[in-house]
Amino acid sequence: MRIDPVIKMHGTVTVPGDKSISHRTVMLGAISEGITEAEGFLPGEDCLSTIRCFRQMGIEITQEDTRVIIHGKGLHGLSAPGGMLDVGNSGTTMRLMSGILAGQPFQSMLDGDESIRKRPMGRVITPLREMGAAIEGTGEKMTAPLTVEGQRLHGISYTSPVASAQVKSCVLLAGLYAEGTTTVTEPTRSRDHTERMLTAFGADLLVDGNSVSVQPEPKLSGQKLQVPGDISSAAYFIAAGLLVPGAEILIKNVGINPTRDGILQVACAMGGNVELISEREVSGEPVADLLVKSSLLHGTEVSGHMIPTLIDEIPVIAVMAACAEGTTVIRDAAELRVKETDRIATVTENLQVLGIQAEAMPDGMVIHGGQFAGGTVNSFLDHRIAMAFAVAGLIAKSPVTIRDAECVNISYPSFFSDLNALQK
Ligand code: S3P
Repeated sequence: MRIDPVIKMHGTVTVPGDKSISHRTVMLGAISEGITEAEGFLPGEDCLSTIRCFRQMGIEITQEDTRVIIHGKGLHGLSAPGGMLDVGNSGTTMRLMSGILAGQPFQSMLDGDESIRKRPMGRVITPLREMGAAIEGTGEKMTAPLTVEGQRLHGISYTSPVASAQVKSCVLLAGLYAEGTTTVTEPTRSRDHTERMLTAFGADLLVDGNSVSVQPEPKLSGQKLQVPGDISSAAYFIAAGLLVPGAEILIKNVGINPTRDGILQVACAMGGNVELISEREVSGEPVADLLVKSSLLHGTEVSGHMIPTLIDEIPVIAVMAACAEGTTVIRDAAELRVKETDRIATVTENLQVLGIQAEAMPDGMVIHGGQFAGGTVNSFLDHRIAMAFAVAGLIAKSPVTIRDAECVNISYPSFFSDLNALQK
């Protein structure tokens, strides 16, 4: 995909539905009684993988574009999948589903693409085994494929070494099938969509600081819900609106959950002009329209408790930093090394290819503001790397070509056409 430097950027964009909430809609819908109906569902490859897996376990799901209907069969209504559950590229599908599968009366196997086979699964295997689960990974690193032999589980109080919503959600979902209370404590609060949605579906949940407890065997009931736009997808337009001279972009219907809104804090700390309009609540999630105006950015530090609130936005924050005055330091973000790619390595490599001075650190990077030259970069088959460097192309001295850019289909199939529509 070739991105040419843009002269003018202006207009309105509605980003697709939130990926995390779309996954959870299918999963919670499947284990609830009755029908769950959602508008604004994200029809990206990752969420379609979740749909495919639950259909394989006997759940009837109709999905047409952004509308999805799940015919839930209750907590104990899933049937044995009769073959490998293929999660594709989706870490959320594999980790959250492991929690559900650990308490089922059947055996299941989960696998995915080359990237998923490299991602750490020990972080969910360890707490699930503490709960009594029989779950095996492959090799010393306990990576996918995974085998789960459903067992009777018991509640635990688990202190997670990482702030990860996937780990927290996996343990909470297993807790629905366990005997007694299950509690998860994290070092910093990660995204809380599971907590919000489980409560709305009828589970008995208690949140206390960085700890969440769940009671077993709730009667979950199907819900009607509206999935808000994904702030992680909006992030590319926030960056484009700030960086392209004279730009003004209105991004409609964006989820601004405080456990996800770090990109807004960073944009503000860098001197960016992002205005929140019509703040409202939709299906238990805070939502707003974002008006982004071209701004002169300066370097900042991104670290500490903020990291989980913007973890998926760091590639595009790095692109913003590359165009800012001064230096930006990103630290406490070692989690980047175990995302779809090692995003510390892939981001710094691409920044350097485009003429930006950037250094990788074990837990982050240092980026010196400058101007992007043109060139060819790799997506490394990582959707967020492809989209972040498309933004770089808009403001580079000459065109930027992105190899394997079709991987944007993982989370944002219409990304390039939406980006094009704003260039006038
Ligand atoms: C997600 C949690 C985050 C995030 C991922 C989606 C989720 O991962 O990076 O894209 O939906 O729970 P971790 O839980 O591994 O931090």
